[in-house]
Amino acid sequence: MNKLIVSLLLTLGITGVAHGAGDATAGQTKAAVCGACHGPDGNSPAPNFPKLAGQGEKYLTKQMHDIKDGKRTVLEMTGMLTNLNDQDLADIAAYFASQAGSVGAADPKLVERGEKLFRGGDLDKGLPACTGCHSPDGSGNAAAGFPHLGGQHAQYIAKQLTDFRKEEAGRANDGDAMTMRTIARKLSDEDIAAVASYIQGLHK
Ligand code: HEC
Ligand code: HEC
Repeated sequence: MNKLIVSLLLTLGITGVAHGAGDATAGQTKAAVCGACHGPDGNSPAPNFPKLAGQGEKYLTKQMHDIKDGKRTVLEMTGMLTNLNDQDLADIAAYFASQAGSVGAADPKLVERGEKLFRGGDLDKGLPACTGCHSPDGSGNAAAGFPHLGGQHAQYIAKQLTDFRKEEAGRANDGDAMTMRTIARKLSDEDIAAVASYIQGLHK
């Protein structure tokens, strides 16, 4: 292949091989320190620490770079990624992506409203269904970098949606299209509580 095409493909990230690909086995060792909060296999036991198990590699890598570069603020992780290079981050992403994510339960009182929002959006408010990008079972779209949500802690999900809405803690990191900020601004506190609870119980 012509050099130009190769570099173009690499830039677009569509070759899917070799360049910077993560090694899950190496990643497990490098992720040891992360286990204190995120759980050794990425299934965090605490509702404010996100589960990383089963999360898409591309999304994980992007978030780690955003956190490392200060584009997303996670005070609890201050300095933790500083000494990790691109290969380390790729390896860690590969490790957590290879782990099976655990599932939680939804609050029965919130299921109806949460499900309606997640699956149908809200036509009156111009709110798209979450399923369009995060898939009907909440598994996301790993190749596109749309995060897996199913089974994630409701408290963490609610905080992210609130942060996107207010652009707090650097959750203005959804790109120029501002997809999640635009969506979150259309959600009331009650909507957020319902959809976050629904997501916690969502699984394949
Ligand atoms: C002291 C606790 C703690 C440790 C240790 C820790 N993290 Fe985190 N991490 C957090 C918290 C809290 C958040 C979410 C902050 C928020 O609400 O936005 C987070 C978020 C993340 C996210 C974003 C997840 C998502 O779904 O967007 C990634 C990726 C991540 N951490 C990776 C790591 C890695 C890799 C390590 C080890 C090098 C690590 N963390 C160590 C507390 C920790
Ligand atoms: C058009 C595509 C699209 C739609 C529709 C969409 N999302 Fe997202 N969502 C994204 C992308 C892309 C990201 C990752 C942004 C980034 O890079 O930080 C994201 C991130 C998130 C996150 C952060 C996950 C984490 O681990 O921190 C949550 C929570 C979320 N979306 C919830 C929702 C909910 C709830 C809906 C429906 C009301 C929804 N999304 C609709 C594309 C979408």
